[in-house]
Amino acid sequence: MESTVGSRQNESFYHLASDGNLAGNCRGLACFVAQQQNPQSWRRTVSQGQRIYCLGKCYAAPSTCDLTDKPLVRVLSRRAVVLDQIVDGGARTIAEYTDSAGYRALAKALARKPEELVDEIRSSGLRGRGGAGFPTGEKWRSVLGQQRKPKFVVANGDEGDPGAYIDRIIMEENPHVVVEALLIAAYAVGADKGYIYVRREYPLAYAVLEKTISDARRGGYLGESIFGTRFSFDIELVLGRGSYICGEETALLNSIEGKRPEPRLRPPYPGECGLFGQPTLVQNIETLANIPWIVRNGANAYRDLGFSNSQGTKVVSLNSLFRNPGLYEIEFGIPVRTIVEDIGGGLKIGKIGGLIIGGPLAGVVRPDCFETMFGFEELREIGASVGHGGIVAFDEQTSISQLVHHIFAFGSFESCGKCTPCRLGSSRIEGLFASRLAGLPGSAIDQTELRDIVSALLEASACGLGIGLGEFAQSVLHFYAKDLAPCFT
Ligand SMILES: Cc1cc2nc3c(=O)[nH]c(=O)nc-3n(C[C@H](O)[C@H](O)[C@H](O)COP(=O)(O)O)c2cc1C
Ligand code: SF4
Repeated sequence: MESTVGSRQNESFYHLASDGNLAGNCRGLACFVAQQQNPQSWRRTVSQGQRIYCLGKCYAAPSTCDLTDKPLVRVLSRRAVVLDQIVDGGARTIAEYTDSAGYRALAKALARKPEELVDEIRSSGLRGRGGAGFPTGEKWRSVLGQQRKPKFVVANGDEGDPGAYIDRIIMEENPHVVVEALLIAAYAVGADKGYIYVRREYPLAYAVLEKTISDARRGGYLGESIFGTRFSFDIELVLGRGSYICGEETALLNSIEGKRPEPRLRPPYPGECGLFGQPTLVQNIETLANIPWIVRNGANAYRDLGFSNSQGTKVVSLNSLFRNPGLYEIEFGIPVRTIVEDIGGGLKIGKIGGLIIGGPLAGVVRPDCFETMFGFEELREIGASVGHGGIVAFDEQTSISQLVHHIFAFGSFESCGKCTPCRLGSSRIEGLFASRLAGLPGSAIDQTELRDIVSALLEASACGLGIGLGEFAQSVLHFYAKDLAPCFT
């Protein structure tokens, strides 16, 4: 059961070199839509050898590795669940964290039975913030119910969705909340060891967490017999290796095991057969950041926030085109228009053309859908998604055909290649739009071929990357048909 993290056998799979510092410009979605704000910098970006798809600095796009500015952080929900310590300046040391209720939830949790904690999380209504919105308590129940040992808990800090910088700021500014939440989750499901997988493009988050884990060990929060109980637990920090697909939970587990990071076929799900074939709970960083608050304040207080089937708060990150880019904790159940106009302040320049919410693997939200409530099912109804919570606005000057090309270039570059529609289909669509945009003779796109590839992506992809690319294409073909008409035969 030795971890093979750092193994070089799959080095060729990863886009970013394992050694040395990351350098260069970001070409993620938020930087793509902001290219007019600094065309020179964007030209440098597309001509640089290495493709970096999101540095999580979308509030200052087009951005670079050197940029150290922090985003604006605000809490707009009735109660601060996730950003409370961060809005007050962050809590990087144990003293700062414990001064603001840190590790109190752990003490409370260890005095309760694991089953009670699982029930508390279930009745809070918390759903995963990593993209799929799966009920967190159900996952905990499933792992608790597994008899096989050892069990693992894994924090997914890969945050690959371009436009999102929520997990980055949580890891950098309030790292002990991740440790405390993993401890509580591990105790509740009966896990022995935890992993935090941190995106390679987030070197500061990695450094902060490295120190945090070592401080937590020294402080007696990690190790043997925590708080004098029979519960022992430790955490291993894993540096992501630079590929978007590593955020998909089963690819992430393969990556930790030192294997090629391809998504696994399911079932079995990780809760039953995860890391090294053992029962494993994989949870997103923001999801975890909700846990100590729920344990301290109770499921009812949490359920009181939000609406419909979307309980609690959600942190959203707004890109640089907004007048007020930044990180905002909001309650589910406010109209998208409120986020765009009241919180974001509208665009700095020009009129809004649409929004890409939660990453590029879902539908686009057109301005005439802005009355839609911000909630899991409500956004699904218009073909969009809460996803990770990044909100990227683009203006009316943004060419939709260039946007489609950009997203398929990203998709084909990041596809793991395991299944045919995604491996070949994504690069074919990228190529079709590249030729059309270059104005090559005979490059008008055959819509039937395009729609056939989109159907194949939707129906035959093995993971959310291929399916999401299909959803994005379906959405733009429907909502932006007029803009795309000149591309077709
Ligand atoms: C292509 C792809 C990329 C993903 N990237 C991430 C990611 O970077 N971070 C994350 O938390 N979840 C990501 N997910 C979702 C995870 O597979 C998984 O659902 C999540 O980590 C579970 O945690 P949650 O229930 O707390 O959301 C991704 C999914 C797909 C299909
Ligand atoms: S859909 Fe794409 S990324 Fe997902 S498994 Fe298939 S080839 Fe890999």
